[in-house]
Amino acid sequence: HHPAHAANAFYTSGFDEALCISIDAYGSGMTNVVAVGRRGKPIEVLHRTPYPHSFGAYYEQLTSALGYAPNRHEGKILGLAAYGDPELLMDVVRARLDERAGEVGLRGTLNAFFPRLLSLRFTKQDIAAAYQGAMERAVSEVVKYWVNKTGIHNIVLSGGVCANVKLNQRIFETEGVQKIFVHPGMGDGGLCTGAAFLLEEAQGMEPYVMENAFLGPEYPESEMRAAIERADLPYERFDEVEEKIADLAVSNEVVARYNGRMEYGPRALGNRTVLYRAADPSVNRWLNQQLGRTEFMPFAPATMFEQRHQNYKNIDGAEYTAQFMTITFDCTDKMIEENPAAVHVDGTARPQLVTRTSNPSFYKTLDAVNRRCGVATLINTSYNMHEEPIVCSPDDAVRAFTEGRIGVLAMGPYLAWLPEKGRPAALDNAESVPSA
Ligand SMILES: [Fe+2]
Repeated sequence: HHPAHAANAFYTSGFDEALCISIDAYGSGMTNVVAVGRRGKPIEVLHRTPYPHSFGAYYEQLTSALGYAPNRHEGKILGLAAYGDPELLMDVVRARLDERAGEVGLRGTLNAFFPRLLSLRFTKQDIAAAYQGAMERAVSEVVKYWVNKTGIHNIVLSGGVCANVKLNQRIFETEGVQKIFVHPGMGDGGLCTGAAFLLEEAQGMEPYVMENAFLGPEYPESEMRAAIERADLPYERFDEVEEKIADLAVSNEVVARYNGRMEYGPRALGNRTVLYRAADPSVNRWLNQQLGRTEFMPFAPATMFEQRHQNYKNIDGAEYTAQFMTITFDCTDKMIEENPAAVHVDGTARPQLVTRTSNPSFYKTLDAVNRRCGVATLINTSYNMHEEPIVCSPDDAVRAFTEGRIGVLAMGPYLAWLPEKGRPAALDNAESVPSA
């Protein structure tokens, strides 16, 4: 289990050498494993932490105690934590952690009644903040220990707990860490590719850089058109659809974007994505409501790669992993001012940096938005309805679009809209004209 997590992260990191750390709920009897990956050599395991010392279980119990669904709503708890005061209960939680050299004992925290007891007297926000903060500090100490011991300054992460984007930021900010890569399929959904890498390792597998995460299915234009027609949606086809999406976005339309191959891993990265401007923070309330979601973390921003330093602090060494939305950063004043809807109350955001080659259509869209309003960022949230997986086929996309009553559907080169809303006026804004 853990060698597969480690192989997934190391062989897609592009690093010649890295500390491979998996932080997980449970896998083959183990929870956390520290290993070393070196180009040309098999991955070498240095340390294993056995169950029940599990940060996954720790977070699941917290999630359940605060009234949410464990193993599903951990992301909501992470969002909630930013509203609390981490120091209020920090000592109480930390006292239950057994922080040893290079690992953390968690037996003392694994009492599901403890956070429930706390919730009788303290707010959910403060409890979540203390659990999140205590985990960040403890894991950061573990990372520091292994960096010092091995002299390796590149970290690659995987395991379900590494879906915790704030934890990943703290790991990156740990003294001695220079570069970080969090594998986009960090959960157990990624184990299949990790196992394949381990098989290839014996044949001399070399670390490489993932150009993008678009490894999923793709559907021809004819099927997109057929799905739109089956739903009786009015539509037009555009050769330069990205220019039209930009016109819609700057006119404050919500655009459901469906294009090319589906994303690998849990994040929508522009091909099964709902887009909106990040200027108005109220979007986090009304659009979540429309999509049937409750979230405490704001929508994530997608930003043109070239603008990363203008919007995010301390991003050098993490710019590759930031293409997969797996880590948060502190935001600059410019980002907070221009894109407040994508910045959390603690001043962080978890961006997707979009390069010209990783997703040409998405890049063109952001570039077109930038030409219109001087901001190269849009909100990017996954294209799915309440608790459902991200849409895959054109029919899935049309169904989620009509159920969610999202503004405009941009499927491949087609733009479609809800008949009762009528043709969006913004389509007449720019130069490009419908094609045959
Ligand atoms: Fe796992």
